[in-house]
Amino acid sequence: MICDNLTVRDGILQFGGKNTLELAERYGTPLYVMDEDKIRANCRTYRTALADAFGPEAMPLYAGKAASFTKLIRIIKEEGLGLDVVSGGEIATALRAGFPMEHAYFHSNNKTDADIEYAIENGIGYFVADNREEVDAVNAIAARFGIRQKILLRLTPGIDPHTYAAVATGKVDSKFGSAIETGQAEDMVRHALSLANVDLAGFHCHVGSQVFDSDVFLRASEIMLGFIAQMRDRFGYTARILDLGGGYGVRYVESDPVIDIPANVALVGAFVKETCRALSIPLPAIRMEPGRSIVADAGLTLYTVGTVKRIPGYKNYVSVDGGMTDNPRFALYGSSYTVMNAGKMDQINDFSCSVVGRCCESGDIIQENVSLPSSVCRGDILAVATTGAYNYSMASNYNRIPRPPVLLISAEKNSETVAVRRETFRDVIALDED
Ligand code: LLP
Repeated sequence: MICDNLTVRDGILQFGGKNTLELAERYGTPLYVMDEDKIRANCRTYRTALADAFGPEAMPLYAGKAASFTKLIRIIKEEGLGLDVVSGGEIATALRAGFPMEHAYFHSNNKTDADIEYAIENGIGYFVADNREEVDAVNAIAARFGIRQKILLRLTPGIDPHTYAAVATGKVDSKFGSAIETGQAEDMVRHALSLANVDLAGFHCHVGSQVFDSDVFLRASEIMLGFIAQMRDRFGYTARILDLGGGYGVRYVESDPVIDIPANVALVGAFVKETCRALSIPLPAIRMEPGRSIVADAGLTLYTVGTVKRIPGYKNYVSVDGGMTDNPRFALYGSSYTVMNAGKMDQINDFSCSVVGRCCESGDIIQENVSLPSSVCRGDILAVATTGAYNYSMASNYNRIPRPPVLLISAEKNSETVAVRRETFRDVIALDED
């Protein structure tokens, strides 16, 4: 199975110990199901791995952009992770979850003055400042509040992570961060150190998402530690924090590699410590910001099959009751997913088809070249695995389709909890003025 929380019993797909057909029956489809035990296990993997590799000062920050809702952020809080937020909305979610805001780091390449005020008002721990204008804006607003605001500077080390071009963010020509290579990073440090209302705590970089190769982190940390040493020599300034950005990749299909996170983090840890020794700089408190690898394999989407269309000599379509509105990742990135017929797991998958959604858009595809049993028919339940990251958080109301609910399940607690309720037509029209 593609994820270790998926099993089969009597030909029926089980997720996190639950019968998926029964879940579909009880809660309706489309349905996002999230396995709380898996989320917690993933959090613990990162916490332990970072503590072992970098010592007790290290802390993983969960990247809320992967999925953010109150009950999830509460789990992140209980597991002792920090939080990477990218908008006022994510801050509002953290506040509602009672998240300790001193452990929240505010990203985004373009924070408005209103965003900055809202974050400061609510005690945000750190701004991850993208550029010099932002440093000035934070300094000015912090001055008004009479505080000294901790910031990290987001730098681009100039690395192409050989991942999807659309999610590669560490290159010099990126819209994110300020480049080391062009001298803008050094200029920002000089500037930040001269300001009264910002406290420069350290540096951040993010080289890309869905990364499987630790080499990317090694190269990024080498450049960042080199920069830290250079800033010490130039300005007598020593960074206290180094944030290495997003986490490792996840498996969407069988051909994706299995990644040993503790072993990989240990590798980065050994390299970072060795490099610090060589450069005679103290080991900074390390941060990593995994999003996908905390929640992706904790998620599964269930759909009901509607039309099965066979076009003889061409192709076959299996339409489901969701689509790009709940999972736009194939439409955006051509992302791979594993699709299963949840009630027919003991049948041979001998029918090749495209699994498509119900939107008025031919690009509304969940996955192409899917193999399902040829008995697939109206009323069957399809399951798409590894949908916990960047599905709910990227969902839309295109065609005024209501978004599915998120059901949290836990075998350990023997619980099923609706974490986000299903949208209704009423919700969809709620903001319209008459
Ligand atoms: N930190 C920063 C600064 C980031 O930009 C990102 C992701 C992360 C952390 C989390 O990375 P992760 O551990 O999830 O790989 N919508 C795209 C992904 C965009 C990721 C953007 N930044 C997708 O669906 O694949």
